[in-house]
Amino acid sequence: MKSAAIRQAFLDFFQAKDHKLIPSGSLIPANDPTLLFANSGMVQFKEVFDGSSEPVYPRGTSCQRCVRAGGKHNDLENVGYTARHHVFFEMLGNFSFGDYFKLEAIQLAWEFLTTVLKLPKERLWVTVHHEDQEALNIWVQQIGVAPDRVSKLGADNFWQAGETGPCGPSSEVFYDHGPEVWGGPPGSADEDGDRYVEIWNLVFMQFDRQLDGELKTLPKPSIDTGMGLERVTAIMQGVHSNFEIDTFAYLIESIAEIIHYDEVSLVEAGISDSIKSLRVVADHIRAIAFLMVEGIVPSNEGRGYVLRRIMRRAMRHGYKVGRKQAFLAKCLTPLIEQMGEAYPELAQHKPKLVELIDREEQQFQQTLEQGMKILEGELAQAKADGRNVSGQSAFLLYDTYGFPVDLTADIVREQGLELNMTEYEQAMEAQRSQSRAGKHFAQSQLITKDLSGQTRFTGYELLEDKGLVIQLYCDQAPVDQLGVNETGIMLADQSPFYGESGGQIGDTGVIKTDTGEFEVFDTQKEGKHHLHHGRVRTGIIKAQQAAQFLVDTQRRAEIKRHHSATHLLDAALRVVLGNHVVQKGSLVEAGRLRFDFANPDPLTQQQLAKIEQLVNGQILANQTVQTRHMPIAQAKEQGAIALFGEKYEAEVRVLYMGTLSEAVEQASEPRHFSIELCGGTHVDATGDIGLVKILSESGIAAGVRRIEAVAGQAALELVNQLQRTQSELAGLLKSEPGRLIERVGQLQQDLKAQSQQVATLEQKLFRFKAEELVALAEPAGQNMIVC
Ligand code: SER
Repeated sequence: MKSAAIRQAFLDFFQAKDHKLIPSGSLIPANDPTLLFANSGMVQFKEVFDGSSEPVYPRGTSCQRCVRAGGKHNDLENVGYTARHHVFFEMLGNFSFGDYFKLEAIQLAWEFLTTVLKLPKERLWVTVHHEDQEALNIWVQQIGVAPDRVSKLGADNFWQAGETGPCGPSSEVFYDHGPEVWGGPPGSADEDGDRYVEIWNLVFMQFDRQLDGELKTLPKPSIDTGMGLERVTAIMQGVHSNFEIDTFAYLIESIAEIIHYDEVSLVEAGISDSIKSLRVVADHIRAIAFLMVEGIVPSNEGRGYVLRRIMRRAMRHGYKVGRKQAFLAKCLTPLIEQMGEAYPELAQHKPKLVELIDREEQQFQQTLEQGMKILEGELAQAKADGRNVSGQSAFLLYDTYGFPVDLTADIVREQGLELNMTEYEQAMEAQRSQSRAGKHFAQSQLITKDLSGQTRFTGYELLEDKGLVIQLYCDQAPVDQLGVNETGIMLADQSPFYGESGGQIGDTGVIKTDTGEFEVFDTQKEGKHHLHHGRVRTGIIKAQQAAQFLVDTQRRAEIKRHHSATHLLDAALRVVLGNHVVQKGSLVEAGRLRFDFANPDPLTQQQLAKIEQLVNGQILANQTVQTRHMPIAQAKEQGAIALFGEKYEAEVRVLYMGTLSEAVEQASEPRHFSIELCGGTHVDATGDIGLVKILSESGIAAGVRRIEAVAGQAALELVNQLQRTQSELAGLLKSEPGRLIERVGQLQQDLKAQSQQVATLEQKLFRFKAEELVALAEPAGQNMIVC
């Protein structure tokens, strides 16, 4: 059975059992700070499980794209070394939202495995949580599994997606690949072998883990199950490694061609495990493509950094098996051939993906070779000295050559050595990093912990203002001054720099004093303080100095345009779809906006066009944007939109934008198009937004949709880009830009006519050849050999 057929059989089976088919959620979890990526099928339903959202249907089934590279579930280091770990994989799942529980979940799983997949019962092994007598009884008494084929485990049979959130005891089904494969049953000393492979995890969702570790009982016990598509496919295709299944086999074969893989020469060169490198590349190109399709780009922080680590690991493995030129983007072609049908977005975004991958590869290639030489020297030295590889070397490789530490650790491990991670962490600590968000956060929390007072924000009216430097921080400690090139945090009594909050990113710019200039590359808000993160560009900056604060005005103008556009978009969504549209998250940057909202179904092209038209109509009307402060009750009375779960002060800031046309026609008190509680920065009049263009609409979790759009300069650039493409196409097709469709239609007709002509000619040729053969043939019997 091909993997696509298994995926379909699973979804069909559960739909026939009254489960609603739910599309995969986004790899970037909506509004969930506890997770970097969706790491299992249940992620998009977390709010349903914990009771904060009502379930739309009692049962569901899905095939979820998952990435496990960072956070609680991280398989990056295992990829290539085991037969069954992946960074990216597909998880099949069935879910009960307060509907059925243990008995039916177990019965359904058993029925699917033994009747649809027809797996022999004697090959299946089961585990339960050691305190879960109920699950044990179901398996043994109701299903008939022999008690000696059930293992009782502890922590391995308790599942949770992150450090907090819905969780519960679980029961797993394992497949026994047979005694010819090394390994023991779950819970035994040899359980790490590849003989017994976990295929399905049934989680009995009963608790919600709090920050302090407490387990709160969930309102309704629910079911979350997950079966790795690649693992079950391996079983169905009779192979022992996920990398031998149909999809991977083709990918690996194609990658071997792309990188001119020559196993014999590699063995001669002393590299005996080169197949592992092909597996790593095959696994990682899937992760890379799917992460990029979600809009993640390689960078030095957060998700972008995880992507960079995956990319660099893939490049290094290509390098190890002899590829010296860029190759990674070429691997997209076989990937799309394999997975493009199930995931059409891969082909749709291919040009962008190629560009991003090529750029990252070129950047890394320049230092990969040099870094490898340094590391090889260090490895030889460590071996000669009989010691492990020092953490300082790993840090230098990271700092100078961009080698992520897990890449260094991977190479060190291949040589049978270890990397001193404690030393590496210490060196990292000492590094005065300037841009890692995680560090900002840690520093900020430490800094504001004992601080009273607040930063007076003057940035609604001013982009340039004076203030007093109250305190400077370097590496989490207060300092009197920061010298040239030193990075740190500046706290001031007042500032026009907006601190990241409410989805709007922080301002950048410059802060000048008599003695130096401080370049601000981010402003974070912690409590009531605005923390300016930056680096001293010239001179020195001292505490208690008077300073001039200069916000990057162009960037701020673009951010304002996108923020105001978000409010108009929110209001337009309600007009077109209804008042059930509730904001679930948003991101407002200088070049784009993202808006997540509750809506059960995808939007049609007509709905999107109507929304865009309403928004641009408000922009053209060019009404002044008004701001008022008032008690929260009064704002709510006026119908102001507030965010669920957000904490508001007693006195709130209310933004009014545009008017509803029918209210104007009736000459009554003009009703505003959008009334929203908001602390962000906005345009003075809607016309300042310029233009809004919707880029995409997609589902990111059950009942949550995401719109991405551009405004202002970015919208203008998009239109210019489209126009350039149109002109280039017109040139290529020898047409006028306005008549492209007509021209393509004509070309299609020409092509059809020519194809018919070719077919007629081929037939004639065939007849002609046939006649020629007949003419050449000798009369029967003339040439017979008589024995
Ligand atoms: N959430 C569980 C897992 O990932 C079951 O889907 O294993």
